[in-house]
Amino acid sequence: MARMKEVSTDIARCIDLADVSRYAAEEFVRLANEATGSGGRFTVALSGGSTPKALYTLLATDTFRVRIPWEKVHLFWGDERCVPPDHADSNYRMVRESLLNHAPIPKENIYRILGEDSDPGKAATSYESTLRESFGLTPTQLPRFDLVLLGMGDDGHTASLFPHTAALSEMQRLVVANYVEKFGTHRLTLTIPVINHAAQVVFLISGGSKAAVLKEVLEGKDDPHRLPSRLIHPVTGKLLYIIDQAAGQELSQV
Ligand code: 6PG
Repeated sequence: MARMKEVSTDIARCIDLADVSRYAAEEFVRLANEATGSGGRFTVALSGGSTPKALYTLLATDTFRVRIPWEKVHLFWGDERCVPPDHADSNYRMVRESLLNHAPIPKENIYRILGEDSDPGKAATSYESTLRESFGLTPTQLPRFDLVLLGMGDDGHTASLFPHTAALSEMQRLVVANYVEKFGTHRLTLTIPVINHAAQVVFLISGGSKAAVLKEVLEGKDDPHRLPSRLIHPVTGKLLYIIDQAAGQELSQV
């Protein structure tokens, strides 16, 4: 595993998407058993996207499902579209179909973002309350996820933190409704401070279409509002990029 210049950033170089998913699934099993070993729960913020979806599908297979203490796993979402839970664009629906329908997760351990709310601001506030209640937070505390899973778009976005959008400057709220011009709609997303407060953040990145932006994110100069993924640096936690050869083809060889 190549180490980046920052001590807490690692890169796992995998062969292809299947290899990325296998590596990520082993990390998920390891972190889940570490978090629950002494009786605790395992809190995860899930990402949308096709690359994370491949991991969820793998976690639901016999090979991995039986190695995870699902009764202690608590699933949250890092972002959600402003659509009902059965809509084709819903990140919740994607996780339900790829994982929830196949793993014995107690319903009370699933914390869905209410994308169907006609008022995105209200949906964001509601999810903040869900986080505060589930993590037992005071009004000024941040939730510390054991694991935040992230994908990365070819524009450098992650979660629903898109280039040059208002959410990138939000340093107080836990969850915001972020207006994304190019979609002409709001997205609901965890904010940078919440993601950076996690114990472990893992990017799952696959495919040649991400090669140029990944090089900029990992090796380029600071231009974070153009490349939101560059804003992801856990304050005390760890950062792991799990990438395949196609996505990493433009990175400097270490
Ligand atoms: C979403 C995701 C988004 C996604 C990236 C990467 O709601 O779509 O949260 O951030 O992870 O766009 O998606 P792919 O892995 O499909 O390229």
